[in-house]
Amino acid sequence: MRKLIKYPNKILTTKTKDITEIDDDVIELLEDMYSIMQKHDGIGLAANQVGASVSIAIVEVDDETGLIEMINPKIVSTKGRTMDVEGCLSFPGTYGTVERYDEIVVQFVDREGYEVEVETSGYLSRVMQHEIEHLSGTLFTNKIIERIAPKDLDAYMEERGYD
Ligand code: CO
Repeated sequence: MRKLIKYPNKILTTKTKDITEIDDDVIELLEDMYSIMQKHDGIGLAANQVGASVSIAIVEVDDETGLIEMINPKIVSTKGRTMDVEGCLSFPGTYGTVERYDEIVVQFVDREGYEVEVETSGYLSRVMQHEIEHLSGTLFTNKIIERIAPKDLDAYMEERGYD
């Protein structure tokens, strides 16, 4: 049974390998990732966060966009910059503002093997960027501009108009 990997485990800073074949192991990994993400109330998760050094990330920001499973995701175009607060399941209690692209176009393969292209903005775009960075071994803590203590999180978000 896989479990959530936390910093400073080296797998988190190691670049993952692309998936070459979507076999039963890949499907099982996707299922494991989803249950671990749900268990920890996450909105995104990368495969290396559950101990698998392969290029798979999942995001589920809200009911409207639902679960998006991305195999070998690549950001192919970007537009604008935006600042917002992020956290990470591998860094419990760490929150901070991070600058990201506002809009992105992502290409990936879905679990059926189809190539998919998605254009997103807002928080979904942010979460995708955070997760795709995990796959190259990059952590959001290196990009934090202003760190926010957990006890100040609600007040900070309200003050800044974040939701
Ligand atoms: Co993370």
